Amino acid sequence: MIYRQNFNKTHQYSFRYFILFIIFTTISTFPQDNGEKIFLSVCRACHTIGQGRLVGPDLANIQNRLEEGWIIKFVKSSQKMIKSGDPLAVKTFNEYNKIIMPDQALTDAQIISVINYIKEKSPTETTSKEVKTPAFTLKNSLGFNLDEAGRDEYKLGWQYFTGEKRFENSGPPCLSCHNVVKDNLISGGLLSKDLTNAFSRLNAAGINAIISNPPFPIMRTAFENKQLTKDERYYLLAFLKQADYDSIYQHPVNYDKRFIYSGIIGLIFLLGFFGLVWYGRKKVSVKQDIFKRQLKSK
Ligand code: HEC
Ligand code: HEC
Repeated sequence: MIYRQNFNKTHQYSFRYFILFIIFTTISTFPQDNGEKIFLSVCRACHTIGQGRLVGPDLANIQNRLEEGWIIKFVKSSQKMIKSGDPLAVKTFNEYNKIIMPDQALTDAQIISVINYIKEKSPTETTSKEVKTPAFTLKNSLGFNLDEAGRDEYKLGWQYFTGEKRFENSGPPCLSCHNVVKDNLISGGLLSKDLTNAFSRLNAAGINAIISNPPFPIMRTAFENKQLTKDERYYLLAFLKQADYDSIYQHPVNYDKRFIYSGIIGLIFLLGFFGLVWYGRKKVSVKQDIFKRQLKSK
């Protein structure tokens, strides 16, 4: 009994240490005050410093436009601020097609170091005229750009998306976490956002930035050291572009309902099936006979 208690306790402890370890490693992924590293690994997917709008606004000289406290709050949880009705946050959110900036588990000091990095890299106010975002081009190794992608390219992208074709650096297929509504392809992972209209929401540059350097912790971990090649990104973009375009012709399906119905039908079927299989089974246990016999013989 004592042994058992100890056993449970040690397990409890190791579980607690395990959780602490996870928390510790996630927090300490970024060394304190390493603004550059944080910016390059997280923010760069969606922001530039002086090269124009990407998924989110150009952050050049934000320190002059926004208060430090505001930026810290926004980076920690932009959605909390938007929901609380902060006028500035709501305005930018609407301007940027309601793209949700993911919450960052960063400390105040870390965010300040990012702001300092941005400050350092920003062009001086006098030279920073309104920067035009350069037109985004991504060509495959055959020299075609996205507008030239046809059915074949689209199909290749679909195969990459679903995992039918493996990524060269063995990254996981997108479908394990995302889905896309196509009549002949669905029920992908529901862990994450549906990507059917990602293309019109994030545009090619945004998606390319996200899949080159995923800013979302789960996705970043999944593709750690498993970078997608340029061609793979090209074909995925061709696929997402087409899926987005086709989506107006797709019939939205209510999967929740479908799951419930197929669940009920499946259950009825299974009950019927087991009923048949065990129809002739003994209703009481075999030992019952022996038991009765013994009772009599007493
Ligand atoms: C997945 C894309 C994405 C990532 C990653 C991201 N942001 Fe953003 N960010 C946005 C979008 C989109 C907006 C526009 C506001 C909105 O939609 O909520 C924004 C807005 C901002 C704003 C407000 C700018 C303004 O002009 O009002 C700041 C500041 C900001 N981001 C800083 C950061 C920092 C710092 C990081 C890295 C730690 C970061 N963002 C990572 C997408 C992103
Ligand atoms: C291990 C799971 C995982 C895999 C695999 C994965 N992603 Fe993601 N992805 C995420 C998570 C989590 C998010 C965060 C967005 C959210 O809240 O759902 C995300 C966000 C995105 C976004 C931004 C969505 C938006 O509208 O804001 C895009 C685009 C994206 N992923 C594309 C891809 C593509 C393309 C692939 C395949 C190369 C892929 N992802 C593979 C987990 C994953």
